[in-house]
Amino acid sequence: MNIVVIGGAGFIGCNIADYYLKNRHNVTVFDNFSRKGTLQNLDWLLKRYKETSP
Ligand SMILES: NC(=O)c1ccc[n+]([C@@H]2O[C@H](COP(=O)([O-])OP(=O)(O)OC[C@H]3O[C@@H](n4cnc5c(N)ncnc54)[C@H](O)[C@@H]3O)[C@@H](O)[C@H]2O)c1
Repeated sequence: MNIVVIGGAGFIGCNIADYYLKNRHNVTVFDNFSRKGTLQNLDWLLKRYKETSP
């Protein structure tokens, strides 16, 4: 499935994105980074799925 996670760099969003990536779905994260520190969540996701990200 193709999944879009709005707020996907947030606490809940990055865990939802992780769940779907783990289950081999395509995930697009949309986030305006309005909450400080959320880029770190995105870094965490990218490191976990480095080999599969475009
Ligand atoms: N380690 C922890 O225990 C921990 C860490 C983070 C958060 N929390 C708690 O968990 C709660 C739930 O987390 P959450 O995921 O709902 O909140 P969050 O703030 O972590 O995530 C919301 C995300 O939505 C993004 N966002 C906000 N407005 C947007 C918009 N208009 N367009 C696009 N993106 C937008 C923000 O940049 C952020 O990345 C938080 O309120 C906090 O109390 C706990």
